[in-house]
Amino acid sequence: MSCEVTLPSHQSAFVVSFVYASNCEIERRSLWEDMTTFSSDQRVVNKAWTILGDFNQALNPEYHSIIDSQRINRGTHDFKSCLLDSPLVDLTYKGSTYTWWNMSESNPGAKKIDRVLVIVN
Ligand SMILES: *[C@@H]1O[C@H](CO)[C@@H](O)[C@H](O)[C@H]1NC(C)=O
Repeated sequence: MSCEVTLPSHQSAFVVSFVYASNCEIERRSLWEDMTTFSSDQRVVNKAWTILGDFNQALNPEYHSIIDSQRINRGTHDFKSCLLDSPLVDLTYKGSTYTWWNMSESNPGAKKIDRVLVIVN
């Protein structure tokens, strides 16, 4: 979901998009395509744009807590490519390294799948 925001005290509008990505890697590919396409859309060009939410995908292999899953998989590659193909950048964050875990006390797995991407124009 995307909306254009204009603050009463500011003339320039900015665009905010909220994402809750599919659990399915193949379905997420259309989100990456939409994000790349929308980044050059007239409704966004020359405006600040932020996309935030649950992308259901880690961006970097080191965000998995388990060493075994540190190699770059297809899902990570797709997300990274999307950011390389668009002017979107990953906003710096503070706080927890991971935003999701699989609730296994004995053999936990955690990832950072929630983030904020921005274009500052
Ligand atoms: C949790 O993640 C770990 C590491 O990826 C995995 O070995 C384990 O099977 C997962 N457990 C559940 C319940 O998904």
